[in-house]
Amino acid sequence: MIPFSPPHIKQEAIDEVVDTLKSGWITTGPKTKLFEQKITEYCGAKNTLCVGSATFGLEIILRWFGIGQGDEVIIPAYTYTATANTVVHTGAKVIMVDANSDDFNMNLAEIEKAITPKTKAIIPVDIAGLPVDTTKIIKLLSSSKMKQFFKARNTIQEKLGRVLVLSDSAHSLGAQLHKKKVGSFSDITVFSFHAVKNLTTAEGGAIAFNMPEGFDNEAIYKEINMISLHGQSKDAFAKTKKGAWQYDVLQAGYKGNMTDIQASLGLVALKYYEIDNLPVRKKIMTAYQQAFSQYDWAELPIFKEENRETSYHIYTLRIKNITETERNTIIQKIFDQEVSVNVHFKPLPMFSAYKERGFDIKDYPIAYDNYSREISLPVYQDLTEEQVEKVIIAVVNAVEESIHV
Ligand SMILES: Cc1ncc(COP(=O)(O)O)c(C=O)c1O
Repeated sequence: MIPFSPPHIKQEAIDEVVDTLKSGWITTGPKTKLFEQKITEYCGAKNTLCVGSATFGLEIILRWFGIGQGDEVIIPAYTYTATANTVVHTGAKVIMVDANSDDFNMNLAEIEKAITPKTKAIIPVDIAGLPVDTTKIIKLLSSSKMKQFFKARNTIQEKLGRVLVLSDSAHSLGAQLHKKKVGSFSDITVFSFHAVKNLTTAEGGAIAFNMPEGFDNEAIYKEINMISLHGQSKDAFAKTKKGAWQYDVLQAGYKGNMTDIQASLGLVALKYYEIDNLPVRKKIMTAYQQAFSQYDWAELPIFKEENRETSYHIYTLRIKNITETERNTIIQKIFDQEVSVNVHFKPLPMFSAYKERGFDIKDYPIAYDNYSREISLPVYQDLTEEQVEKVIIAVVNAVEESIHV
């Protein structure tokens, strides 16, 4: 069976983990701080805080911005549930908008329609690794009309003077927008290093800060670091220093730090990210693209346009003119040929938790259409050329058997 997305762990990463295990310090410490610096250099943010997951990163930022009951946060209907769950936890209302039909990202015109005086944040999601052009969203939110619309409820919101753009870039580390890396555009960008992501630390995430002029990103980093560790004035590593056992609890904070064991995996993975991770992913996706371009039934994903390039995270093939049931049959036929595939994503209004909150998939026809015809194919570093060939044959056989071309 060809698996869907196994992790690629180099011997060097294993050695780095062993080094940490033997070092006498295994939770947040020097390796996490070094990993943060390396991510900052890589993505061009002002600074970066590593955390236990992207989910935690999104939620802590919503809380730091003071979002809660009575507020609204705009997200795509077409995303993973983490994006929405974090908003629910804060007590704010989730506002979902429909997708684009060319890529799978949230539609800018729909965002504009969804903004109200209660809107406090927008969470664009770079689905499959293809960036949302958040410069357009920030431009829209910075217009005098939109700024007048914005009702600040605390000093941070007042200082920003507009809706916060918090990118869920769980998929898009290394993706490019206007010839710069994702992480250097939105107010704040959150990456995921979960096991199936391009770069993995098993579980983990990073918050890349890029708050505009007037904000001290270093001070924000320190504040979020403090809230991510129970609100303690010193982290556990600092407390181990000679005579430094005393600390204060400044806030009733949360617990969401990254460990040095995770950072060990991340440091080595990041070192090779541009050398043999992204190029291999691009090669695999290009092979899929070339193969499927010969078939009229195939709707190919966008990789690269003038202003943006994906991180080659997920290959999102769509089959033209099929129903959800037909897509499911095709998936079964692919699995029958010993190839694992997946679907990214089932839109949130189709899940019980969000149906119960009043969402109805009929209000998101494009998200549904994208989902109902989508099949994600395996893309990972250890996928061989022969396996890529096998995937292509399995997909072609399954589709052609099912749609009787
Ligand atoms: C779009 C999106 N956002 C957020 C997350 C959450 O990431 P994490 O597992 O690091 O919390 C994921 C994870 O799959 C995701 O796909």
